[in-house]
Amino acid sequence: MQLKSTPTMVEDFLMLNPGPVPLSKNVRDEMARTLVSHRSPEFAETYQQFRDGLDYVFRHSTIDGSSSTDNGMSIPLMGTATMGMESAIINLAGPKDEVVALDNGKFGERFVDIADRNCLVKPIRANWGDSFDMDSIKETITSNTHLVAMVHQDTSTGIMNPIKEVGEIAKENGAFFVVDGVSCIGGDEFKIDEWGVDVVVADAQKALAAPPGISAIFATEHALESFDNTHAGYYQDLPAYVKTTKQNKTPFTSAVTLVRAFVVALENIKEEGIQNRISRHRTQALANRAAFADMGLPMFPNLNDHSDYSNTVTVVDLPTPISDNSSDFFKAMKQRNVTASGGHAHLKNLILRMSNMGDLSTAQVLRGIQTVGEALCDCEINVDTDSALDIAEKIL
Ligand SMILES: Cc1ncc(COP(=O)(O)O)c(C=O)c1O
Repeated sequence: MQLKSTPTMVEDFLMLNPGPVPLSKNVRDEMARTLVSHRSPEFAETYQQFRDGLDYVFRHSTIDGSSSTDNGMSIPLMGTATMGMESAIINLAGPKDEVVALDNGKFGERFVDIADRNCLVKPIRANWGDSFDMDSIKETITSNTHLVAMVHQDTSTGIMNPIKEVGEIAKENGAFFVVDGVSCIGGDEFKIDEWGVDVVVADAQKALAAPPGISAIFATEHALESFDNTHAGYYQDLPAYVKTTKQNKTPFTSAVTLVRAFVVALENIKEEGIQNRISRHRTQALANRAAFADMGLPMFPNLNDHSDYSNTVTVVDLPTPISDNSSDFFKAMKQRNVTASGGHAHLKNLILRMSNMGDLSTAQVLRGIQTVGEALCDCEINVDTDSALDIAEKIL
């Protein structure tokens, strides 16, 4: 029996939403294997592989594959990245601690909300998709700041924020630096020590190309020594996670099937080589950007000298009249068995968000571009899809 909502042409269905992303066949197959107990020696062995794979990706996400830190550890979490974002904050900061949280997109806003519930939050806000003003960051982070929280590449807007610069300011003021690396880790560069990062959060379902449901953080020695569960919820007790991770288990029941699939996804990354994977993501993002520019779709993020475009998700303005109601446009894409995303909240109809995260081939990226072009034409926006494809093909 198959669930009614499962697309029938499974192999032909191409999901270009910015997470969850398509899974490779060996990752999907892994989930069909006979279950073992989460307290069995077999699973402990799998868990060690899981930690090794995470260490490889967290430490070696550099252009030349060299290690960006020689201390700290990867800590898998049995919840999605929001659990990682929240647990990092509540195990490092208490109700009386000042947390500066930067918000220029949906996930920056989430950091503000988490900090607001648990600490003394001092938000730094820009309109979603706009770049941060470095002067106001320098003024806001002071020696009273206990922790700074920031999103590296905000999947809701396609902007890449200035982690290195903000990390320097956080360090100068003796503050912890917690970074949401969700749509970056596994697809782009991430330098832990050089950027002054104490905790970085990754999600299974983004550029790591594993099934959704679990996540991981990497914590440096400084963060590990400072974790304090006094104000952390029972399920987000990071000292408990650290202790059990070292024993190759989780504090509570492990998501055995998801962990196993994640291990295979990490093996796929190792086989490709993280440097090659970063370079492929950058090239694919460049191709998407060039193709959309050729179709006359402006990039949504407003860059300044300190920001850049994400290399894992491309976000462009949708033209009028689609931006009045984008449902026909997304339906036209879906009729071609390809999906992408619109915007969150007030950006719902205004933007197209197209992922190149995970294990996409050149043909799949081109198919995404072709589908966007054809769907625009269906909505009476006449674009030259062949020209856009030519441009993208040359880059790829
Ligand atoms: C940048 C970023 N951070 C955090 C999250 C939250 O992830 P989850 O919903 O899996 O907890 C997402 C999800 O899309 C994201 O894109």
